[in-house]
Amino acid sequence: MAEHKKIQIAATGSWVPSHRVTNEMLAKKLDTTDEWIVSHTGIHARHVAQAGETTASAAVHASRIALERAGVAADELGCIVLATSTPDYTLPSTACLVHRELKAGRAAAFDVSAACTGFVYAMDIARGLMGRDPRPTLVIGADLMTRIVDWTDRNVCVLFGDGAGAVVLKWGSGDAGLGESILRVDSEGFFALRREGGNRHHLSEQVDAPSGRSFLHMEGKPVFNFAVKAIDEVVTELLEKSGMTLDQVKLIVPHQANFRIIDAAARRLKTGADKFFLNIAEVANTSAASIPLALDALVNANRLQAGDYLIFVGFGAGLTYGGVLVRWGCSAPLAVV
Ligand SMILES: CC(C)(COP(=O)(O)OP(=O)(O)OC[C@H]1O[C@@H](n2cnc3c(N)ncnc32)[C@H](O)[C@@H]1OP(=O)(O)O)[C@@H](O)C(=O)NCCC(=O)NCCS
Repeated sequence: MAEHKKIQIAATGSWVPSHRVTNEMLAKKLDTTDEWIVSHTGIHARHVAQAGETTASAAVHASRIALERAGVAADELGCIVLATSTPDYTLPSTACLVHRELKAGRAAAFDVSAACTGFVYAMDIARGLMGRDPRPTLVIGADLMTRIVDWTDRNVCVLFGDGAGAVVLKWGSGDAGLGESILRVDSEGFFALRREGGNRHHLSEQVDAPSGRSFLHMEGKPVFNFAVKAIDEVVTELLEKSGMTLDQVKLIVPHQANFRIIDAAARRLKTGADKFFLNIAEVANTSAASIPLALDALVNANRLQAGDYLIFVGFGAGLTYGGVLVRWGCSAPLAVV
């Protein structure tokens, strides 16, 4: 019988800054309360990068763990694909800095800009590239969102945190691996979630701050409504394309933006919120890092068995959205480094 070969997640890794900021700590500086934040979002705390910690350093920490668990040396990689909206430099890509730190030899490296859907986009791009270059590939989601929010704007700053998650993709035998995927964008919602300061503006034009830095702008309600529909659409279509029912899926691992988004999406899908894995309470919205951080938390908690079906679903600025169905392939928990 011919052996199946599929692209599999060989290992995961993640990192969050050690500095933890609770809602109560925010409430001392901002007109907000722990009760409001928890009841409107499900967030209790977030981890905030300190001086010297950057998106690249976060990505390197997460990647080293994933590579070691996968038994892959950095110079064996074919490519590093890094999803971020908070790059260390506007140019070149943060992936190149990660390549430099890891000493990734002859691997290609580039960033993907798809906001909070970035990790899903990056995985699908990586898998496409692996059709031509079969070497293992490192896929990273890393964001320091706390660097781009206005800390005086209670509507936005309470929602976000920092972190990075990484997976090593490898060709493997058997049925486990990446299945159907969907990548989309509802560009009608382009302006609902954005950060200005790109080259649209001539240098003579003022953006937000005299320094040229600008903050994340968000219209909460339309983004909320879009997200609920996006989750429903992606999960429903992935199941249809795969000829499966939701009962066959162990867990949906969503982008962690707001517990109430997940709750509303679960109702549309006629399932319970417990079908979704959530770690938002502790890490808040870490944008592109959110799905791989949640996945690594599941792995570390020993919650996954070989053969389990998972759906990753992302949504965010663009308004991008998408998902991928994954059959988990590790029969034993991956060694914790
Ligand atoms: C932002 C969000 C939590 C707001 O929740 P909401 O239920 O829509 O809030 P409402 O519009 O009912 O209430 C807003 C009120 O709460 C206030 N409010 C906002 N943030 C607050 C905070 N941190 N603490 C206290 N009050 C706050 C507002 O000022 C407003 O007050 P007003 O009615 O006096 O003007 C919600 O819209 C949301 O999660 N949207 C999606 C955001 C998101 O996930 N973005 C990233 C996607 S990748």
